[in-house]
Amino acid sequence: MHNVDIELVEMTLDVMKYAINRITNQSPELGSPRKEEELKERVGETITPLGIGGEKAFRLFRDVLIKATVPIDHPRHLAFVPAAPTRAAVMFDLVTSASSIHGAYWMEGAGGIFCENEAMRWLVKLTGMPEGAFGVFTSGGTAANLSAMVTAREYFRKKKENQNKKGCIITSAGAHSSIKAMAKVIDADVLLVETDDLMTAEALEEKISSLDKNTAERVFAVVATGGTTNAGIVDDLDGIANICKDHNLWFHVDAAYGGGALAADSVRHLFNGIEKADSITIDPHKWLFSPYDCGAIIYKEPELARTAHSQEGSYLDIIKDPGAQGFNPANYQIQLTRRLRGLPLWYSIATHGTDKYKWAVERGIALAVLAGELISASPDLELIRPPSLSCVLFRRKGWTPDDYTNWTYKNHREGLALVTPSKWKTKEGFETVARFCFINPDTTEEDIQVILDTMK
Ligand SMILES: Cc1ncc(COP(=O)(O)O)c(C=O)c1O
Repeated sequence: MHNVDIELVEMTLDVMKYAINRITNQSPELGSPRKEEELKERVGETITPLGIGGEKAFRLFRDVLIKATVPIDHPRHLAFVPAAPTRAAVMFDLVTSASSIHGAYWMEGAGGIFCENEAMRWLVKLTGMPEGAFGVFTSGGTAANLSAMVTAREYFRKKKENQNKKGCIITSAGAHSSIKAMAKVIDADVLLVETDDLMTAEALEEKISSLDKNTAERVFAVVATGGTTNAGIVDDLDGIANICKDHNLWFHVDAAYGGGALAADSVRHLFNGIEKADSITIDPHKWLFSPYDCGAIIYKEPELARTAHSQEGSYLDIIKDPGAQGFNPANYQIQLTRRLRGLPLWYSIATHGTDKYKWAVERGIALAVLAGELISASPDLELIRPPSLSCVLFRRKGWTPDDYTNWTYKNHREGLALVTPSKWKTKEGFETVARFCFINPDTTEEDIQVILDTMK
């Protein structure tokens, strides 16, 4: 298994050939899921006492299994939050694996952690947070939000009178599902500011003043969103920051999707106030063109995260020795052993420069504006609200929810596009609508038009 032999050389050539073909293919086949039984029937037993051999396993993956997946970077994949890792980042993901670096502690990972930290410095600079703010790369936005919530909760419980209190978080109805899910993990309650649009300072203040004394005393954090997943809406970050300061609450900004837009001059003003946050989530695997998985959590005072997350064990004592000193990513988020998931991002930024990142993010925003214009010009279609960041919500006049579902499946089945419906709250309830989210700078006006034409 660990031999270096001719089979290894052949496998390496197969893998490199596949990787080169894949990353140079700008419009890979838009695969779709198959039933597990069907896949099993096509590939047979792959886990056997003697193994089926690298060549066969690779062939099954390349010829059968990959076709049952959706290439997330397809230019007409505009569903959920797509991704479009740069080719440099993808190649360096291979290098990251080949290098076998443990990314928890400086003692083992110094050179790699150095690279991650260089990329992190750029992210921190984009936020405008004060001197001393810093962060680490996580497996994604969910893990980043959880790491921040644990830090905030531990900070809250440092006060004697809070030690036995069940914590409570305030967020908006538009916040990502991971906020509620991670609140469950830390056994905290969640209170929602009900709003159709951005969470304003006034709405937050109103919510806080509506709480009874007991509940108000349990609130330890407010989570605002810097680009909602559904509509790209940025909450009133500056106003919310001031309220958090007045009420002594931890201010977390979930910019997992929207954080990339901090690089875009055209929309940067929407994020004013983010620099006052206690913690910020940004997912480079969303709008900063990293391969999966790569999230990031940034803290105004990293020391508070260290207090919350550092692990203890006799086998870890050496890490505290002066001879092993350095930045230890394991101390600032929930994971111990970790891949150096910021390395591909570092290589890509180092290769292309930050101006290219600016350009690529602006391109997603421009595509959303363009889609908005095409939608407005079509008699059958209607914008639900003006495009925000790179999200566009629109309706096909006269369509029922089933029409949207059938349209999604038909386009996917035909390998044309993956665009999924969403919902938007109206006075009458929730309306099913169509949604675009643009990330890939290779998406063209023609791609958008082709998709809109399928709604005629
Ligand atoms: C605003 C927001 N927060 C958090 C997440 C969760 O991120 P991840 O899927 O990387 O865990 C998402 C994912 O779409 C998101 O859009």
